[in-house]
Amino acid sequence: MSDIAALFQRLTQGVYVIGVGDAAEQNAFTAAWVMQVSFDPLLLALSVNPRHASYALLQRGRAFSINVLSKEQLALAAHFGRPASVDKLASVSWTKGRTGMPLLHDAIAWFECAVEDERRAGDHVLVVGRVTGGELRDKTAIPLAYRDTGAMDGAAALFPTRFSKS
Ligand SMILES: Cc1cc2nc3c(=O)[nH]c(=O)nc-3n(C[C@H](O)[C@H](O)[C@H](O)COP(=O)(O)O)c2cc1C
Repeated sequence: MSDIAALFQRLTQGVYVIGVGDAAEQNAFTAAWVMQVSFDPLLLALSVNPRHASYALLQRGRAFSINVLSKEQLALAAHFGRPASVDKLASVSWTKGRTGMPLLHDAIAWFECAVEDERRAGDHVLVVGRVTGGELRDKTAIPLAYRDTGAMDGAAALFPTRFSKS
């Protein structure tokens, strides 16, 4: 792992399954780049690679769910980290939230968000969502930390070996 990849691993992040969909189709993908960005109104931001199949669905549905994983759920993180060439939701238990977005029965918490804004951020798109609902389903479970996913997402290879000066 490069020095820069190791440096970025010190940013503390969680691991979430983001549910997206429209009237005809639903999907979900693993994401670590999720954070609260406002109290009033309650806003959460998500950084998504626009090349993911999920991004087109997110744009069509204008909403997303955030399913919080526990430290026992590395396998779910890996499952939803795979591309949408298979129906990832077919093998798990889930329901549609009030906005129609997938809520995983095994998640320790849910958020439901309506898309408020988005802007390009380098090779990703920063999507800001207004929180329209949520539920804490397991008060004692410890959330999964991104650091504990190791090399699962192959991100180490995406970091540069030196900082750009410009
Ligand atoms: C631990 C982990 C964290 C990830 N974090 C993000 C993220 O924050 N944003 C993102 O766009 N993709 C992230 N990914 C990659 C997507 O989950 C992955 O590319 C997935 O295949 C996209 O799903 P889709 O093809 O169904 O849209 C992450 C993957 C893993 C395993």
